[in-house]
Amino acid sequence: MRIDVLSLFPDFIAQCAGVGVVGRAAERGLISVQGWNPRDYATDNYRRVDERPFGGGPGMVMLMEPLGACLDAALAADPAPARVIYTSPQGVPLTQAKARELAALPRLVVVCGRYEGVDERVRDFVDEELSIGDYVLSGGELPALVVLDAVVRLLPGVLGNEASPIDDSFATGLLEGPQYTRPAAFRDARVPDVLLSGDHGAIARWRREQALRTTLARRPDLLDRAPLDGADVRFLRTLGWTGRGNG
Ligand SMILES: C[S@@+](CC[C@H](N)C(=O)[O-])C[C@H]1O[C@@H](n2cnc3c(N)ncnc32)[C@H](O)[C@@H]1O
Repeated sequence: MRIDVLSLFPDFIAQCAGVGVVGRAAERGLISVQGWNPRDYATDNYRRVDERPFGGGPGMVMLMEPLGACLDAALAADPAPARVIYTSPQGVPLTQAKARELAALPRLVVVCGRYEGVDERVRDFVDEELSIGDYVLSGGELPALVVLDAVVRLLPGVLGNEASPIDDSFATGLLEGPQYTRPAAFRDARVPDVLLSGDHGAIARWRREQALRTTLARRPDLLDRAPLDGADVRFLRTLGWTGRGNG
């Protein structure tokens, strides 16, 4: 997958995208990440990328001209069809399902706003707006990196263990249950016996029940739409869950 990020701070993007899972994916040639700076496409002597808003008001607004020229250049750099995303607190919320949808595409172009945001006409040039939550950050770089990380770890071959994103929270519609590693006893806290039993059927059942228990405790709203079988519902009933009618 190719990912182009339009940002006034392309070095920040390159540094953050160079570490961990995303960095290793790039080293192994599974993705390529390229930063593009709209300032390089500004045509005046001051290389301006922002202006005061028409009609007055606080702050500055990113200019369309350098951003539009930068976007044209980024799109022209590769013939693969691109999904153009503008990171915006006004966008649709980023979810695991959205990350999965984006991970199936050959190319993403992510536009990062700064200042009070971008001239409204940017919306004519993007396919969608994504928000990473109901709060306002000072720039789109962190949201772009969040999108990038959520998408890249789903690409085939990126995670060492192919199975690991399958059990992640949200992948199954539930939160993931607890995980333990060595030692089997830490001070007074022991790892549940079933995990040491070697009984794979019992371990799978226990994990499913723990995922249901965790989801009921922390995000019961997810149970309204998670795929549940009869055993799941019976287990949830023992915990007092009364959702989805009496079934
Ligand atoms: C200070 S914000 C602008 C907020 C804008 N004035 C508003 O109220 O909607 C500057 C830039 O940060 C990015 N940004 C801020 N919060 C975000 C969020 N929750 N999700 C995605 N992008 C965000 C966007 O790219 C935005 O253009």
